[in-house]
Amino acid sequence: MEKTLSIVKPDGTTKNLIGEVLRRFEGANLRVIALKMINLSKSEAEAFYSVHKDKPFFSSLTDFMSSGPCVVTVVEGESAISKVREIMGATNPDEAAEGTIRKDYASDIERNIVHGSDSLESASFEINYFFNALELNDRNSRD
Ligand code: CMP
Repeated sequence: MEKTLSIVKPDGTTKNLIGEVLRRFEGANLRVIALKMINLSKSEAEAFYSVHKDKPFFSSLTDFMSSGPCVVTVVEGESAISKVREIMGATNPDEAAEGTIRKDYASDIERNIVHGSDSLESASFEINYFFNALELNDRNSRD
């Protein structure tokens, strides 16, 4: 079983897409094992996206991510990282496949509704950024 972190971004919560995003994950046999709604500060968004700190879009991205509520989730399942990325679609909605979340709902490359970890390493960093071990309701943790 693999875990990944996903975020319904401020454009997703504004557009009432929290349920739609989670429905698509659950429909793909993934389980939501942790969930919270949070308003990130600018500095919290900067720390989360620190891997992009030298990119030209960093300031705009972190302004956007701190502009309203996010729903942060840990999703578990077989190949969860790649499954979530497939359900989300390409970062740029113009390049996203038909039937993906970003193709259906994203306005542009920055306001793209949803985030998902891109590797085991980033999933580990990102899950630990938002949740502690007691908040992860994975099947083995209570054995
Ligand atoms: P996400 O999957 O959350 O990972 C990094 C985010 O940076 C990405 O989704 C987009 O929201 C944003 N992003 C990536 N590339 C660009 C870009 N060229 N211009 C603006 N924002 C971008």
